[in-house]
Parts: sequence; structure tokens; C-alpha cells
Amino acid sequence: MMTRISVLLLTCLPLAAAFTSPASFAGAGQRSGLQSATSPASRLHNVALRAPKAATGVSALNMKVPKIIQGGMGVQVSSWTLAREVNRAGELGVISGTAMETVLIRWLQEGDPGGIYKRALDRFPDQKMVKRIWDKYYIEGGKAADKPFRNPTMWTFTPSQDLEEATILGNYAEVWLAKHEDDGTLIEGGGVGINCLTKIQLPTIQNLYGAMFADVDYVIMGAGIPMEVPGILDALAEHKDCKLGIDVDDAPEPMFAHFSPKALFERSGAPEVLDRKMHRPNFIPIVSSVTLAQAMLKRATGAGPTKGIQGFVIELPTAGGHNAPPRGFRYDAAAKSHKLSLNDKGEPVYGPKDEVNLDKFKAAIKGLPFWMAGYYARPEKLQEVLAMGGAGIQVGTSFAFTKESGLAPNVKDIVLAKVKNGDMTVYTDPVASPTGFPFKVLEIDDSLSTKDNYEARPRVCNLGYLRTPYVQDQDSGKIAYRCAAEPVDDYLKKGGVIEATEGRKCLCNGLMANAGLPQVSPFSKDGEDKKYVEEILITAGDDVNQIRKYMKENSEGKLEYSANDVIQYLFGNFKDAYEGEMNLYADADKAEDPEVKAKLMEKKADLEEKIDEVNQQLSK
Ligand SMILES: Cc1cc2nc3c(=O)[nH]c(=O)nc-3n(C[C@H](O)[C@H](O)[C@H](O)COP(=O)(O)O)c2cc1C
Repeated sequence: MMTRISVLLLTCLPLAAAFTSPASFAGAGQRSGLQSATSPASRLHNVALRAPKAATGVSALNMKVPKIIQGGMGVQVSSWTLAREVNRAGELGVISGTAMETVLIRWLQEGDPGGIYKRALDRFPDQKMVKRIWDKYYIEGGKAADKPFRNPTMWTFTPSQDLEEATILGNYAEVWLAKHEDDGTLIEGGGVGINCLTKIQLPTIQNLYGAMFADVDYVIMGAGIPMEVPGILDALAEHKDCKLGIDVDDAPEPMFAHFSPKALFERSGAPEVLDRKMHRPNFIPIVSSVTLAQAMLKRATGAGPTKGIQGFVIELPTAGGHNAPPRGFRYDAAAKSHKLSLNDKGEPVYGPKDEVNLDKFKAAIKGLPFWMAGYYARPEKLQEVLAMGGAGIQVGTSFAFTKESGLAPNVKDIVLAKVKNGDMTVYTDPVASPTGFPFKVLEIDDSLSTKDNYEARPRVCNLGYLRTPYVQDQDSGKIAYRCAAEPVDDYLKKGGVIEATEGRKCLCNGLMANAGLPQVSPFSKDGEDKKYVEEILITAGDDVNQIRKYMKENSEGKLEYSANDVIQYLFGNFKDAYEGEMNLYADADKAEDPEVKAKLMEKKADLEEKIDEVNQQLSK
């Protein structure tokens, strides 16, 4: 049994394919029934499609444990439309909580096409709050294309009431839409989660609180160590005050962002909202090592034996978006010591120390469910994880380019056409993201992935999600904010070093453009009069070429595929495998020895049940 997940092997793939390829099922099919009951293939089947019986957490809350988590993808790539489709299919759809207030505000300035956000906001319990945001941002018919969007104020330790309200409403609306049909009927599906990046600290509490008003089922967080989040969820479920530690450069002591639901709704004029019963969602951290999982289970702030954690996603560096840096990798802009750990293309190199030992992992996580992520969108890999006792897989890249995802149609067209014409390459950029984590970028000429295009972009910082707070004045303790992707002069004035600005990209504006909500810059490119319109910067995992498996031409000759195509593909092979094994038991009732007959019949019934389960899954 392969229990050591090797990053290198997974990148080249064949080991996993050989381990549970359809051929190995065919092989099992040639043996006699009783032999096969102990064969590797049937050991695999014994656990397949059954969620592990978790000792704590998810099962205690009587929640469905999904086999497929559609990973959270910001900004609005894992939109409510995508998450709803996955929820409907009985798996876990996850919306991204990143920059949701900006997303909501921009859609309102686009005239809320189809009345979509109105549908959700009409059901929010504080209609005074809704009216304020509506009056402030909604533009009937949408703003003119050459006019910039009005932005919310940037996040600081002391956010405005307007910003807090927009954040709560933005996250609420996205979750609510993913949980309901257009007519407002609640979908009895696989559930809806929210994903937040731990590294974007200041809006976190308000993001989660907003999502909880729409009864979010899961909170999934990576890109950092979300140690305090389980306790925050416990507090928010009772509308209690809470705080989150914030990393502040040069701070002499720990600093916290505070949030008071009571104060917020009193200011809003709707204190009665605090009587509303909230349910505490399951919390799943995304980790990349046994040590991190152990630390979370020891020091996280939630209640109960697993400290408010209900499972883990183990994410490998093949995954799309941000990646955990290699063990021992330290980005140092000035000393450039990190250069020693880069390959010829300038990407971080992962090695044996980055492998996750699954035996140790399982022993450490006290029976909680876990999901594997990063190049796992293969039926045989889902089966492999289930056979190892995992709950399933988290998949991002395969879902990112579906017709239901929130990527702008032109972005999908570019990527699908390129994949059709040959393999695309993904660059793991060690410096692009101001978070300091490696960030995967799709190499596309018409995007900000090229050096020339990026250098031609007039730098501006007007969303500020990735700004780092720093102590500007030690005497007064005054806090200011800086981002290495902001205009270089501004960054230097704030005490930043020039080396840190090199190769840094404005993910805030690039990712907003991907979602079809590009800002019109206050500046123009050198030598141009027209105001610059922010361009796309697409992230995807190493698995991007896998989308060739699903995509097809529709009646208008346009390439596309759906979230359901991905799910069908991932579950499809189960059916073949079970039906193949079923042939072994065709004559089970003819066995002469009553004991053997009983065993064979039991096995046959078990398989029938599994086929039934798959059929149900596929018919959703
Ligand atoms: C376009 C895109 C954006 C992503 N954004 C996020 C994000 O905002 N937060 C996060 O935790 N993971 C993010 N991810 C990672 C996914 O949630 C998921 O874990 C990963 O894609 C799984 O590996 P795969 O890409 O091989 O399927 C993103 C992935 C993609 C492809």
C-alpha cells in the first residue's frame, strides 16, 4: 500500500496510475471469488465510496462527508454558480471568501444583472444594512465601461462600518446563492463551504460571520496557519466578541483585530439580529505536513477534543493558487538566499522533506477525515485515497474552467483553446505573490504572466488585501500598511527595500480582472492617453492539461465542459470497477458449501449496494 505521498512521483504520475489502473481491476476479475475478497483490489473496494467513520467532528455534527471537495478559488473563480452545481451533485461546493465585499460592490455597480444579488440580500435579516449598501453602490443598468468602479475603503485595524457591512453581506450573499435554487428553495445537496486565505488576515472574522448568516456548512482555510479560527467560529456562532492575531512588521508585542457583533448590529440599528440562532460550521484547515496538523490539533483555539477541527485537506505543491514553500525555503529579497533553492526556470524545488507520510498523518489526526489535493482529479486517485482511509479529494484546476465557474468567458476561451492545441505550462513563481508564498501562474502571452506585459502595467494599490501592517512610528505606535506590489516609490517611502518589489505582482487587480470585474486604472501606460484597464493573471495547478479530458465543442462550436462532467468522470470508473468485480459473484448462489455461499452472497450484496450508491451519485 502506498502511504507515502511523493511530490515528485505525483508530478510524473505513472505510479498512481499503475497502482489502481483499470488493468488491475481486470486482473482481480480473473480470480475466484474468495481469493478476490482479500485481493488488493477488493480491499480497496471495501472502503471505497464509504466515508470513514470519524471519531469526532463531522459525524458528531451529523454532516455529510463529501468524497469530492471542489476547492475554494479566489477571486470568485469558485463562484456561487460553480459551488451550487457541485452542491446539487451531492458533493461539497466551496465559494471563495476572498475580496467578497469588492465583488458584491462591483456587481451592484454593474446593475446586478439578473437581480441575482438582490435575491440573496432580500433574505438577509438586517434590511437597513442592505438598503445602505444598495443606495450607496447600485447603478441601474450598470456603470459606463470606461468609468472606474468605486472601491470600498481598504482594510485596516479600524475598518469603517460600511466596509464591515459590505464584507458581511458579500460573503452572506455568495453562500446563500450557492445553497438555493433560483426560486429560493434550499438545495438538499452536499453542502456549501467557504474558503479564506489565512494570510489575508484583517477581513477574516467578518468574512466568516457573513457566511454563517447563510448557514455555511464548512470553513476551509490554507495559505497560513489558521490556529485561532476554530475558536472564532465557536464565538461567532453565539454572536460573541472575538479577536484575531495580526502579523505586524516591527511590532514590539502581539497585535489583534477585534470584532464585536453586538456593537456592529447596534450601530446598524438592528440589535434583534443577535437573537438569531447560528450554526457553527465544520472547520477544515489545509495543511502540507504532519507537523502542522499536529500543531493545529494541539494548539488550535476551538472547543472539544479536536480543538474545533473537523478534518484536514492535505495539499501538495502541484495544486493551483498559492503553494506552501518547500521546507527550509526562505524568501529573502535583499540577500537572495532563496535563489539557492530554485531550479533552472527559477521555480522552488521540492524534495523528500516535503513528502507527507500518510501513516504518520493518519495516526496524528485522531480519526478525523482527510482529503488529498494537488493533481488528484483522476478516478483511480480518488479510489486510492479512499483505499488509504481518506475521505476523498479536493479538486481545483479541473473545476476552474467549467462553464459554471466565475472566470470571465474570455479567460476560459483562451485557456481551453490553448489546451486544445497543445500542453500548457504552469510556472511556480516564487516572488509574484506579495504574500511571500509561491504562486502558480499560467504562462499566457495575453496576460500579466509575461515580464513585458507586467512591466508595462502602471503600478497602483487600490484594493490592498495583501498589504502588510507595519509600525511606522515606534514612539506613537502608529500603524501603516504597505505592499511590495504597490508603486515602487511609495513602498520605498514606507521603509521597504527595492529588491522586494522586483517581480511582485498585483494579485488583487489581476484576479479581479479574471472574474470579469477589471478596474479602470487612474493611470495610463507610458505613451498612451487612454486609462489602463487592469489585465488578467491566471493561476492553475500543474494539472491544467487534464481539462482536455472533459472539454467538447457545443452546438455553436465553442469549447466547454461542466462541473458535472468533472464529477461524472471522477466517479465513473467506480462503476466499471464494481461491475467488473460483480461478475465474480454471478454464480455465488450455486456454491455448495453453505459457509462459502454465505460469504459470497454477503460480498455480492455489498457490491450491489456500492453500485447502487454510484448510480445514485451519477444520476444527480
Ligand atoms: C484558479 C485557482 C485559484 C485558487 N485559489 C485558491 C484560494 O483562493 N484559496 C485556497 O485555499 N486555494 C486555492 N486554490 C487551490 C484549490 O482550492 C485546490 O486546493 C487545488 O486547486 C487542488 O489541486 P488541483 O489544482 O490539482 O486540482 C486555487 C486553485 C486554482 C486552480
